[in-house]
Amino acid sequence: MLEVSDLVSGYGKSEVLREISLKVVKGQIVTIIGPNGAGKTTLFRTIFGLLPARKGTVVFEGEDLSKLPPLARIQRGIALVPQGRAVFPDLSVLENMEMGAYTVKDKKQVQETMEKCYHLFPVLRERMKQRAGTLSGGEQQMLVIARALMSKPRFLMLDEPSLGISPRLVKEIFKTIDAINKDRNLTICLVEQNANIALKHAHFGYVMEGGQIRISGSTQELMNDERVKHAYLGKRESQ
Ligand SMILES: Nc1ncnc2c1ncn2[C@@H]1O[C@H](COP(=O)(O)OP(=O)(O)OP(=O)(O)O)[C@@H](O)[C@H]1O
Ligand SMILES: [Mg+2]
Repeated sequence: MLEVSDLVSGYGKSEVLREISLKVVKGQIVTIIGPNGAGKTTLFRTIFGLLPARKGTVVFEGEDLSKLPPLARIQRGIALVPQGRAVFPDLSVLENMEMGAYTVKDKKQVQETMEKCYHLFPVLRERMKQRAGTLSGGEQQMLVIARALMSKPRFLMLDEPSLGISPRLVKEIFKTIDAINKDRNLTICLVEQNANIALKHAHFGYVMEGGQIRISGSTQELMNDERVKHAYLGKRESQ
């Protein structure tokens, strides 16, 4: 579904991604794990078009998107949930959700998608009128996922959905991620520092360090890989 080849990008003079290549197979959950500063967010921003690719290509369903702006990528079925729960704090939950649907013209479709999102995250229905900035961290994470789903994507990128959220809520969010992957056949790529939970839920994984892919394999292979065990699964409590 997605094929990234020899992708290079960065900020100013610094080159962060150093010829990254990876694939996301349709229908799968693929995870990218790696330490702070590895370039995971930079990779997502480049795939989404928020940062230009200096070299290499981003091919989605056979089409090279490398030169297209983010809006055109959303229209082709890609959505990004950015790191750090960037809700529009002064808008209500409902208004945040509507913002996610600005590429969908059909009002009835918007309504239907919103119903599905409320079904996935009932707490958002309860808080529909509440200002998004006053939601708890976990609720904000649910809202940014729901907002991304409002554009009816076929490929969803999630940047650290577990960051700063209680273990119980993390479990719940990952259950929902599983559900949207299976029930709606949504292909998902997620960046995580919580390697335990990411490898448990994904089908395939990449380990990214210093702007490069160091290790890749099925999640089963990665969980048994001594380097992964030592560096990423070592001291964390399993969840
Ligand atoms: N806007 C920016 N301007 C300049 N440098 C940046 C910018 N954003 C990120 N960087 C640098 O790019 C490198 C990769 O950052 P990035 O955010 O992609 O890492 P990451 O793997 O997502 O880390 P984390 O796990 O902490 O989120 C870092 O060295 C960072 O300082
Ligand atoms: Mg990041």
